[in-house]
Amino acid sequence: MNQNIRCEIERRRTFAIISHPDAGKTTLTEKFLLYGGAIQTAGSVKGKQSDKHAVSDWMDLEKQRGISITSSVLQFEYDGYCINILDTPGHQDFSEDTYRTLMAADSAVMVIDAAKGIEPQTRKLFKVCAMRDIPIFTFINKMDREARDPFDLLDELEREFGIGTYPMNWPIGCGRSFKGVYDREARAVLSFDDAHRGRERIHGVHCDISDTETLDRLIGEDMRRTLVDQVELLDGASFDFDLDAVRHGKLSPVFFGSALNNFGVEPFLMHFLKMTTSPLPRVASGTPIDPFDEGFTAFVFKIQANMNKAHRDRIAFMRICSGRFERGREYYHVQGDKSFRLSQPQQMMAAEREIVEQAYAGDIIGVFDPGIFSIGDTVCEKGQRVRFEGIPVFAPEHFAMVEQVDSMKRKQFAKGMNQIAQEGAIQIFFEPNSGLERVIVGVVGVLQFEVLEYRIKNEYGCDLRRSALPYSQIRWIKDQTIDPKTLKLSHDTKWVQDYRGQNLLIFTSEWAIRWVLEDNPGLELAEFSKDSDTQE
Ligand code: G4P
Repeated sequence: MNQNIRCEIERRRTFAIISHPDAGKTTLTEKFLLYGGAIQTAGSVKGKQSDKHAVSDWMDLEKQRGISITSSVLQFEYDGYCINILDTPGHQDFSEDTYRTLMAADSAVMVIDAAKGIEPQTRKLFKVCAMRDIPIFTFINKMDREARDPFDLLDELEREFGIGTYPMNWPIGCGRSFKGVYDREARAVLSFDDAHRGRERIHGVHCDISDTETLDRLIGEDMRRTLVDQVELLDGASFDFDLDAVRHGKLSPVFFGSALNNFGVEPFLMHFLKMTTSPLPRVASGTPIDPFDEGFTAFVFKIQANMNKAHRDRIAFMRICSGRFERGREYYHVQGDKSFRLSQPQQMMAAEREIVEQAYAGDIIGVFDPGIFSIGDTVCEKGQRVRFEGIPVFAPEHFAMVEQVDSMKRKQFAKGMNQIAQEGAIQIFFEPNSGLERVIVGVVGVLQFEVLEYRIKNEYGCDLRRSALPYSQIRWIKDQTIDPKTLKLSHDTKWVQDYRGQNLLIFTSEWAIRWVLEDNPGLELAEFSKDSDTQE
């Protein structure tokens, strides 16, 4: 392979930041960009407002922005690395896209609020990362506020997530008495000074742990003694550092800091970049594709519809898995069996959207899609026969019965529902033997219901009637040869079919799932469904 292309791929790092809303994801991202020189002052990262808007402004906001590429991926340079950060939308934007984004990442940074520990959204996102065993780096944020005991926090991570943790640094106090962190590798204390309030890069004071006199001056005698005791405990009790375990998602390096104050952010970034790898191979037709392979390959992991009525096009986001992408060259869309040129491929550089001339394995590009792509599709060089493994269909948690109001518009309704489902914004299910004018819609985040209503009305001219259903859990029946009519189902469980005619069950609670399993020995249920359309 061309040495230049190899170097470009080698220096790429593509990761997602996961957290529960308000843990500090936006602040940390902003500080990364600050260190990378991509922005000059904090407070300029976009996407934050969009994370926090009220439901009602969402449509307008989307319309103004046209297609919201801003919240999807950011690329910047730091210390010779080319970094791609994938945002995982939270708050009301939380949707299946949030999960799919994780399919495009090679590792994840998990931001945790030190006062709160693991929160529901962290839990959900972690589960999806764990499916692929991707490395997870933990940043325990807001140490400048009152925090939970650090040993407790680590214990919680290990217990709940079933992974090992390795604290890379250790906090000295918290809240008003936060004095800094002890760097275990350097065996030195980095002292905290909030004078800059996080507006600039900081270069804290380093002091060796054996330098009692200076340490007493920096953090006080009591804190120094506590620190020495805790370090001894840590060295004796915690997991050994094992890079291989980190890279297989079994051991999470943990860092304590304060994103708002820039404290601990740069050391985190430096360690993180060293411990993560360049783009990882992806499996296609059962064989891993080496990112350094000459041929260009990519898969579509997200499709975003344009909310602007005048432009019905969509943007398909692709993760490049191998080789180099060049603008203007002809590529092959495997599922559509067609060659095509990608028009106006885009990439986010810091806060600007740019047309890309070339991009490399590990990068994400967004391309205008006239409606040919589906989630999970493969794009590659002409003449290649590659097909990446499908992206799982993630379990929706909210369900509603959606019916068309005007029976004259049956066709438009069916078309709209199908197209929106194909983009992956909603999942649609049918009651066996029912007509197309009545559909059960499942979503991961409730905002998707409003998006659906808005789009069906504005793009397809149909009014909907929507009634909430009490279901919250979904399971695919593993053995599709089983006739669901022969199953013993309680009144709070419903048999439905997805668009491929696969049988599945929806339940009102975890309990209901257990009852069905108990009442039907031998029945096996799956939480995720591989999209068989994208399988060989
Ligand atoms: P998110 O993207 O994960 O939702 O969190 P975001 O960065 O927006 O941070 C949520 C709130 O927590 C913000 O305050 C932010 O300033 C604050 N924050 C983030 N990191 C730290 C930290 O290290 N220490 C402290 N004390 N606070 C932190 P806000 O009041 O909601 O917003 P703003 O008015 O400050 O912008």
